[in-house]
Parts: sequence; structure tokens; C-alpha cells
Amino acid sequence: MNGSMHVMSTGPSVQDGTREATATGPVGPTADVARFWDRMLVFAASADEAEPAPITVPAELTPVLRLFESAGVGSPTGGCSAPSAGALYPYEHYAVVTGADGPAVYALDAVRRNCQLTRVGAPVAQAVEDAGLTVPAAGEALVLTVARPWLSMRKYGNRGYLYTQFDTAHLAVHLLCLATESCDRAELRTHLPDSGLASLLNLGATCRFLHSVLVLGARRPDAPQVEADTWSCVDGRKAGSGDKPSFWLEAECWRSVDAYRPRRRPTAGRPVRTRPLLPEVAAAPPTDLTTEAEPLTTLAARRRSAKDFAATPLARSALARTLAALRTPLATDLGHDTGLSATLVARRVTGCPPGSYPLHGAGPWADHRTTPPDDDELVRVCMGQYHLRHAAAVVLLHAPRAELVRSGPPGLDTVLLRAGALAHLLYLGAAEARIGVTAIGGFDAGRWRALAGIPAAHEVLYAVLLGNPGPAAVKLDRLHPAYAHNER
Ligand SMILES: Cc1cc2nc3c(=O)[nH]c(=O)nc-3n(C[C@H](O)[C@H](O)[C@H](O)COP(=O)(O)O)c2cc1C
Repeated sequence: MNGSMHVMSTGPSVQDGTREATATGPVGPTADVARFWDRMLVFAASADEAEPAPITVPAELTPVLRLFESAGVGSPTGGCSAPSAGALYPYEHYAVVTGADGPAVYALDAVRRNCQLTRVGAPVAQAVEDAGLTVPAAGEALVLTVARPWLSMRKYGNRGYLYTQFDTAHLAVHLLCLATESCDRAELRTHLPDSGLASLLNLGATCRFLHSVLVLGARRPDAPQVEADTWSCVDGRKAGSGDKPSFWLEAECWRSVDAYRPRRRPTAGRPVRTRPLLPEVAAAPPTDLTTEAEPLTTLAARRRSAKDFAATPLARSALARTLAALRTPLATDLGHDTGLSATLVARRVTGCPPGSYPLHGAGPWADHRTTPPDDDELVRVCMGQYHLRHAAAVVLLHAPRAELVRSGPPGLDTVLLRAGALAHLLYLGAAEARIGVTAIGGFDAGRWRALAGIPAAHEVLYAVLLGNPGPAAVKLDRLHPAYAHNER
């Protein structure tokens, strides 16, 4: 959400719609410097600009706010506690609920615990239907996750778009897992058109895209009691703050990815099925996260990214429990057609010869290939990330390059969503097995493919490192320079 501070438009071609400073006086180089200076200014809102008026938090939003309260437990920033490259969280949330005036959309700011009414009535109902969804009944809700790639791309460049996809997938699965335990229905809808909700919220024009919608049934009576009384609410309909054009750098950035965003027409929606995203994973014992004693809510609250790893072997039983999380069924509309696979690279695991093991078919310990990287090679392939050198095992998520590109942008979105979702389950599995875990995006995909003996036709998309946690106190990935991208 935009605040009340306006930054000058500065770009060569893009206006951000805020006030232009007027450079008066001399022409020539002096005027150029005056304009250069003026573009560094910011302007506070004037008294006659509409500030959103405070309103009472509507009762129908309470179940959604409770979900966000649960989702924030353990967060390093106060927002949702999901893994994110550099802890940048390149997404926003909206909720659709139905109140006395019909369906309404609220923008949610989980860090500030603030919600803002943005749209209400018939246009909302129409937009929901155009998206192939149903207007929520009393007690139900839709939670929209909206990705904003700029927030990651301004640090990570083009790779920041990939991280946006993974971060948003982690977040969506985080919310889905929590909602599965607290609502009588929770399903993730991913196959969404550009029209409907996306156009109602003007997302393309503000450099964002609708990633997914979590459909929530009524909160279960036996769901844990969660307080959500620190939230405030404003009526933002007059201020229209969500509609401001974007800062020119963000607009340029968006232009570079918009051509590759899926263009989907209004849709009837795909069937939702509750099933594993990687069912063929062989792991012992034959369990998944839903069969474990600890609720997903507890695991999500405990989940953290390891800051480094200890130079000790990982117990095979703990690794097997972590891998079993990959079989956890999730209620989504994702198809089965992406060719996504997982390969385990075991470096130091008790009772498991070092090597790489495809996580399907004959079983994780049966099909042994290649020699795993030593510590120095691991650091090199992970772009100099020295703190990762003692990782005991690595799970690589990979897919045939032809599958990635075969069905165009929608297919790419789907593969990345699945890979991010599986990585999130590994995080929860590691929390359950009480071992260290971190996903990483800073790695050389071609080198990992060769090291793990993965078929040459595959792209390594994502890597999840596992091991015993080390003593480091700082998560280097959150520091400002993108050091794992050769940035100096
Ligand atoms: C897409 C993605 C890429 C990441 N890449 C790295 C990485 O290259 N190196 C690293 O140490 N951590 C990496 N992380 C972990 C993040 O730094 C971590 O999630 C973030 O600091 C938030 O901390 P938390 O997961 O403990 O909540 C990555 C996480 C994600 C989701």
C-alpha cells in the first residue's frame, strides 16, 4: 500500500502521477541541474488531500485477521512468517468478505495490522464471478495474494522475479496449511484470469499480479482461540491510494516482465483436488505432515531458515521424516503435468552412502549416483555462500526445460508454484524433524545439475539445504548487497 509521501517522477518516459516540481529560471545546464535537484524532492500530502477515514474493523473480517495473526507467529519482521529471499516479502494481501453492503475488498497490511476498505458492492461480486470463484457467504472469505516483483527485483535483478514466484508460493502454502487446520474448507486457487479481481484492483497498472486466491470456509468452532484485536481499519475508497501510478523504476521493471505474464480469459475455474504435489516420493517411514503428531500450525510457528550448519552428520531417520513432508496432500487446482522431480544429494548422512538419489521410483536410498560436492565445491556452486559449507544434504527441485517453456507463461508459473510449495513442505518437515533447513536461490543451476547427475534436459529450479543447525547469529542473506549474485 502506498503511504502519504510522494516521490517525484524522474524517469525518462514514465510519470508517477505525483506533483511535478517546476524548474524555473535559467535555461541550459543550470536548468538541467535544477530539474535534477527537483527530482530528488519528496512532498507531504496537503491538508485538502483525502486521508482515509478510520472505521470500525468489520466483524466479517475477523476470521481472516485471525489467520494472519497465526501466520505471523515467529516472523522476523512482524508480517507473515514465510521464507523469502533476502527477507523482502514481495507481495501484498487482500480479503474479500461479505457484509451488510454486500461483498467488499479490504487491503491488508499484516505488518502494521491495518486493513483498508477499497471496493464494495456489485463490481466486487462481478469480479469474483469473472475469476471463476464464488462470492463468500457469511463467515467465509477469499484471501488474495498479490505479487509485487519489484520488491525483489530491485535487489536481485532478473532473478528477483524467480524469487518473487518462490516467495509467494511459500506464503500461499503457509496460509493454506494454517487455514486447513482452522477452517472447515481451505483451498488454493491458482488458475486465475487477468480480468475479474486483477482488473478490479488495477493490478497490472500498479506493477503487480494476482498470484493465487485462498478460498476459506467458516472458521471451525474447535479452531485455536486467536486474538486479532490490535487491527485497525480505514475506508480508503475516496483516497484511492491503491490506484496511484507506480514509481518510474518500478514501471520499467514491470515492463520487463509483463510480456511474460500469462494472459488468461475469464474462467470457470479448475477442479480442486486434495493430493500430494509430488506423490511418487519414496521415504521411510511412509508418513506425511498430516499424519504427524504436531499440528501444522505448531510447525509453522517453529519454522526458521538456518543461518549456517554444524559440521556433523545428519541422522538418516530425521532426513527421511523431512523428505516424507513432500507427500503431504494439499487442496489446490494444480494439475499433474509439469514433470517436476526432486533429487537428494546426501553428503554427510549416517547410514547413507554419499551420493545423489532421485526421490522417486525405487526409493530414496536405492538409486545411487555420483560423488557429492566437498565443502569447497559446495560453497562455489552456492555462489560463495560460505555459511552453507556444512550442509549435510541438499534437495534439488528440477524439471525438464521443455516442460518449463512448453505451455508458455502459465506453464512456467505453475512449475515455479509447485517447486515453491514443495520447498515449503520441506521447511515444515525439517521443523517437525527438528533439523536445520534453508532454501537457497543463490546457486549455479548447471553446476548442480552436473554434480547431482540430473539429466541434461532438466533445469534445476530450487535448492533446499538440510543439516544440523550451526551457531551463526546473523542471516547473511538479509544483508543489503546481493552477495550471492556476484554483486560487488
Ligand atoms: C526464494 C528464496 C531464496 C533464498 N535464498 C537464500 C540464499 O541464497 N542463501 C541463504 O542463506 N538463504 C536464502 N533464503 C532464506 C531467506 O534468507 C530467509 O527465508 C529469510 O531471511 C527469512 O527468514 P526465515 O525463513 O527464518 O523466516 C532464501 C529464501 C527463499 C524463499
